[in-house]
Amino acid sequence: MLNECIQPAASANDFLAAKTASRKLSMVTCYDYTFARLLAQSNVDGILVGDSLAMVVYGHPSTLSATVDLMRVHTEAVWRGAGGRFVVADMPFLSYRKGMAAALDAAQSLMSAGAHAVKLEGVDGHEDVIERMTQSGIPVMGHLGLQPQSVNRYGGFKIQGRSEEAGDEILRQALALESLGAFAVVLECVPAPLAHRVSRTLRIPTIGIGAGPGCDGQILVLHDLLGMNPDFRPKFVRTFCDGAGTVQQAVARFDEAVKSGAFPAPEESYR
Ligand code: KIV
Repeated sequence: MLNECIQPAASANDFLAAKTASRKLSMVTCYDYTFARLLAQSNVDGILVGDSLAMVVYGHPSTLSATVDLMRVHTEAVWRGAGGRFVVADMPFLSYRKGMAAALDAAQSLMSAGAHAVKLEGVDGHEDVIERMTQSGIPVMGHLGLQPQSVNRYGGFKIQGRSEEAGDEILRQALALESLGAFAVVLECVPAPLAHRVSRTLRIPTIGIGAGPGCDGQILVLHDLLGMNPDFRPKFVRTFCDGAGTVQQAVARFDEAVKSGAFPAPEESYR
């Protein structure tokens, strides 16, 4: 429910202002119009059209199957429902690694579909793209720690930054993102003390997922926080309702009502 006393972030600048004011930021993923309409009635600060849609919506084993065209379709659907809320769209696998023109075309496709900002993973090797985008008026959100588009390099979805050197490396990358003009950085699956250290060091906010309470904000995949997949319960996910049970019970009740003849009732029928 919308709390009228709380003003959710409406722009990338509001993310910076929230950090300055020590106000925590909340973000959730969203992939479609119906859920976007519901999120527009909440106080969340940002909606991420994540490339996790390749897994959550399409059942792929990783995010690598997301394409710019697919991200554009879902970004547009979310934008139609989001009622002006701050929408961030993920730049999919390799879309920012094929040269400047291709990266800008991909960002243009997502921004013209309604995104207010884009998110991309890592920094090394595409510093020029990030800088050009931020200088061209495209707010850029970074993504460090576990970068799901690099799952094949890691050999699985594994916690990152456990050693001192690996932690220092993540801090270096975060500072590089900040200096290139990124307005926020997602930190995924890193030890909580490291996320706390990065958050204290950066001027821009960190948004954690599996990164502990020391981040400036938190993000979860909507379907995870709704408990839609009982088979996926990593340590960092808190389910805020039993979505799977609720859906299954509702469909079972419908099925029983149809088969017993109780649905549709006369008042649910046209004369
Ligand atoms: O695609 C996604 O859902 C994400 C979040 C996990 C941050 O990048």
